[in-house]
Amino acid sequence: MYHQYVMGTPFLAASFVVAACAFALSGCRSLPPSKPESLWTPEEARGAQVYRVKCGKCHRPNDTRPLNGPGLQAITKVKAMPSGTPPTDERMTYVILHGRNMMPGTQLTEDQLSDLLAYLHTL
Ligand code: HEC
Repeated sequence: MYHQYVMGTPFLAASFVVAACAFALSGCRSLPPSKPESLWTPEEARGAQVYRVKCGKCHRPNDTRPLNGPGLQAITKVKAMPSGTPPTDERMTYVILHGRNMMPGTQLTEDQLSDLLAYLHTL
């Protein structure tokens, strides 16, 4: 019993160090996971529908690899969007409605826009 305990302690300590390093090294490469679909609120689920119709053909929601535009995984959790602008709701709203470079503006009702923003926060 005593042996198991002393064997276990360094192992736990080692796992902790590995976990801490992984966290420290992750930097901008490893992003927090998206909220699972099963936990979406009705608003987020409606936003996902808007996204599929209006944004999905250009942006992968759960990946940062580009499609016709940058992948949007964790877009509201990163310090800066690809343009370098912080991902505030105001800034995202502006880009969504007015477009940016190759991205066309999208016409949305106020409800669609607020649902979509709620959904973007789940990514
Ligand atoms: C026709 C393709 C297309 C569609 C449709 C589209 N986008 Fe984009 N989007 C782009 C491209 C291309 C960029 C990169 C623009 C740039 O910075 O040059 C972009 C950039 C973005 C960015 C990053 C802006 C920044 O400041 O870096 C966000 C956020 C975004 N799009 C969200 C959306 C959302 C939400 C929708 C749906 C309402 C949408 N896009 C629809 C092509 C598209």
